[in-house]
Order: sequence, then structure tokens, then C-alpha cells
Amino acid sequence: PRFDTVIKNGKVVTASDITDCWIGIKDEKIHSLAAQFDEEDLIGAKIIDAEGAYVMPGGIDGHVHLCQDLKTGPHGLGGECADDFATGSLSSLCGGTTTILTFATQTRSIEDKSLLGVVERYNARAEKTGSYVDYGYHIIIVRDDEDMLEEELPRLRDEWGVTSCKVFMTYESQRLKDRELLDVMVAARKNGITTMVHAENGDMIEWLTDKLESKGMFAPYYHALSRPPLVEGEATNRAIAMSELVQNPILFVHVGSTLGMDNVRKAQTQGLPIYAETCPQYLNLTWDDLRKFHSPTCFENSKMICSPPPPPDSSDREALYVGLHNGTFTIFSSDHCPFRYDSPTGKPSGILEHPDSMEDESFVAPTTLEEAHQCDKHALADLTDRKDGAFRFIPNGIPGVETRMPLLYTGGLLEGRITAQKFVELTSTNPAKLYGLYPRKGTIQPGSDADLVIWHPQDKFKPFQLTNSQLHHNVDYTPYEGQTISNWPRYVFIRGQLSYSEGEVLGRLRDGKYLKRGSSALSKGLPGKKDPRKVASWLYD
Ligand code: URP
Ligand code: ZN
Ligand code: ZN
Ligand code: ZN
Repeated sequence: PRFDTVIKNGKVVTASDITDCWIGIKDEKIHSLAAQFDEEDLIGAKIIDAEGAYVMPGGIDGHVHLCQDLKTGPHGLGGECADDFATGSLSSLCGGTTTILTFATQTRSIEDKSLLGVVERYNARAEKTGSYVDYGYHIIIVRDDEDMLEEELPRLRDEWGVTSCKVFMTYESQRLKDRELLDVMVAARKNGITTMVHAENGDMIEWLTDKLESKGMFAPYYHALSRPPLVEGEATNRAIAMSELVQNPILFVHVGSTLGMDNVRKAQTQGLPIYAETCPQYLNLTWDDLRKFHSPTCFENSKMICSPPPPPDSSDREALYVGLHNGTFTIFSSDHCPFRYDSPTGKPSGILEHPDSMEDESFVAPTTLEEAHQCDKHALADLTDRKDGAFRFIPNGIPGVETRMPLLYTGGLLEGRITAQKFVELTSTNPAKLYGLYPRKGTIQPGSDADLVIWHPQDKFKPFQLTNSQLHHNVDYTPYEGQTISNWPRYVFIRGQLSYSEGEVLGRLRDGKYLKRGSSALSKGLPGKKDPRKVASWLYD
């Protein structure tokens, strides 16, 4: 047969166009696009009728935490990912995301000095289960040893196709000092490795946390007060200055404030290669959601704790949507952090790791509110069932790999805040370009992988209220419980294979392939910005 599969009657959306056309798929790839195919071209092909709905490149989620354990938990304070590659990739598939980029995490322990070793061990976790969707890794770097950076970054790039690293400006166990950040940035630039920056001022956070606790403000809600928008505002400014100094493009991950976004915008206007990501939590949650459950009978705030926190109110939401619309944000990712709420290795794990319980062998952590009130060591007024203790100890991060695309489709595309083309650019094309996967991934053109998501025709879709049991992750809650969802992927193809069809999973573990990636295809910045009297461009002479 000429084609393995033909998708007819779709509105095919790329980052630039919407075209009424048919798609012919052959050998895992997009083979042809045409207004219509002849009858004989269809012989032997599986036919899928899109019925006028949008057909888009499969989602690429550039920010997913899977298989990180207590020691390397996403926020470095504890917490174990409830999703491995099996459940995490299943959840991804069912939400229209056909490629995920996850984090191999270095720790400060000496066994983890070798970045190659870290990636090898992490890769074993992925290979143990296999994956429903294609996947690749970022490397989190928490040290700046010269030999490590010089010898290992080129090998990570060449042998593994790991072409992106993440660095932290906060979290005691992960943060780098400014001079260490500069070391990593210089090494990243030399090797064409994209630097992802978690920009929050760690000192401000620690100081504010101490002050809040001294006033008895331990409850999960105060997590947000320990990280007001200025915390991100300061750190983004500082990282932009460092990026300019050493001429290294950076991407700010999970930008959650208009202050942070405005700093990014200003730097971009100056021609600096500053990129930014935002996430569903910053468009769909506010401080009200953190407070919502704060009643004497219902303490579920820890479900909403992530860093940076959601913005104070919905006025920020509109501003962030403008940032998606006008290109300030390059990509839209989930920052999926699969901590369970009702598990001692999930949200409560921080409480179990309370310093009292480590230093004092006779210390027994309180298990009820009553016990907590009597615990003078603890002085936690709000500890119930160990799930919602002092915010300082609660693992940061919330799940969302499956809801990322439907939430942006509902709140962005259908509300007219962004176009369908912009939706594709943010959820697929730009992540592919930024992380060295384009044009194999991220677009619909002859030769590209046939990773596709077909939505429901809008007039035939009945909006529904989201509830966690509909999702496929291994987390026992969704922060978006009860939110209205107005469309959902109907068909999802992984390299030409129909893997998800009208709610049914047809794909299998092991379908997903590891992706060796190239360097970022996005601009490295303006040549005019390299005056050696002003910036350290001489470093590279
Ligand atoms: O709260 C968050 N985002 N935790 C996840 C780890 C990270 O910094 O991305
Ligand atoms: Zn982060
Ligand atoms: Zn993250
Ligand atoms: Zn205590």
C-alpha cells in the first residue's frame, strides 16, 4: 500500500498554518499532505476521519519529573515520584503528549559526581519498564567541578544526546552560588547545551520562612508568602545579567509571576537570548486555591504546593496569557511532579523527615491534630494525618502531564486568548526547537515523525468536570479537580501508530523510544551584544 494510515478531513495545524488537508503516513513518518488523496492511494491503508477537527503535532512536554527517589526528589527535600516511566508515559499519552523530557538528577554525594553515571543509572530506570511515548533526559547539575564539566558535558552531548541542563538558584541541597552558575553557563555555552534555570532567590525564601515560622505561620498556605513574586523577580534579573555576561542563552523554567515575565520580556527586547516556560498551575490556580481548603476540618493545601507558587490572583493569569500570546513564553510545560497526597513517601514525606525526627531518636512524629498540638518540639498547629504539616517540609510540585494540553486548549485556544497555531508552537514546535528535536518532532511535514493528536470536533464534544479517577497517573489527586475541560484528545499517534483512540489505550510499553537530541535551533542572540569591554566575550577567544 502507498500509505499505512490516512487521516482525512482534518484541519491540520502547525505553528504557522491551518490547512484543510489529508495526511498520508508511511513507516512511522508523515509521507504526504494533500487536499485529498485518490481512491487507489487509500487501498490497504487504515483510514481515520478527523471530522473537521484540529490535527496537531503531538505534544512535547519539556518538563516532567519521573522516577526521582527520596534522595533526588524534584525539590531536594524528599518525596518520591509515584510515577515511573510506565505510569508517567501512559498519562502523557492519554493527554496528547507524545514526547516527554525528564530529569536525571545529580546529587551532592560523591557517587553522583559523574554526570554520565547519573544518566546511566537514570536510564536503567526508564529501561526497566519502557515507555508508551518517546523520551529524553535533561541533566540537573548541582556542582561545578571543572573536570566534570569539561570532560563530561561533551560526552553527554555526543554519546547520549543530552543537550540541556537544569540549575537551581534555590533549595539548599541543589542551589549553586552565582560563581558556580557562571561556571556551568560557560561550559554549557561551549558545548551547545541549553541551560534551564530555576530562578528563585534561595536566601530570601529561607529568611522569609524563618520569619513566618517565628510568627507561628506554618500552615501550607504560607508557602506562598515565603515566595512572593519578588523572589522570582530578583532571581530572574540576576540570572539575566549572568547570561549576558557570559553570552549563554538561558531558559527560565516554570515562570509564575508577571514580575518574572516582565524581566524576561525586557531582556528579549534588548535582543538577549532569554527564553521562558510557564505551566498550567500559573494559569489555573491562585493563592485562593492554596487557601480554599484551609479550614479546621479540611487540610488539603499541601496538594497545591509548588515552587514558584501560583500567582496571588487571577489578574496575573491574564498577564501570563498575554505572555503566551506575544511570544515572551517560548514553551508551555507541565512540571509534572507526581507526589501522592496519602502516602508517607509523597507529600507527607517532608514531615517524616522533620529535623526533630532525625536528631532525636526518641522523637515520635505526631499522627493526629491532637498529638501535634501537644508536641512542643513541633509547635505545628495544623498537622493532621501528617499530610499537611509545616510548609517548609512539604515536597514541592504538583502533577499535570495529562492535563497540560486539555487545560491550555480549554483556557487558551477556545477562549480566544491564543490561536491554534500558537497552541502548537508552545506545546510542540518550540520545545522541539529548543531541545534539539526539530523537525523530526514538533511539526507536520513530510519526513517528520508521525506523532499526532486529533481533537474532537468542537460541536460534538460535551464539556466535563475533571476528576482524578479519569487520569492515568499514579497520583491520588489532581490540583485541577472539578475544573471544566472543553476538549480532549480523541486520537493520539506515536510514530504512525494509533496508541490512544477515543479513551482506549492501544499503545504498549516499549513503543516509546529514547531520543538522542541535537542542540537548540533557537537564536543565540544578537552579534551586536558582544562588545568585550562590556561583557566577557573574551572568555571564548
Ligand atoms: O515545585 C516544583 N516545581 N517542584 C519541582 C521541582 C522543580 O523545581 O521543578
Ligand atoms: Zn524548578
Ligand atoms: Zn520541575
Ligand atoms: Zn517538630
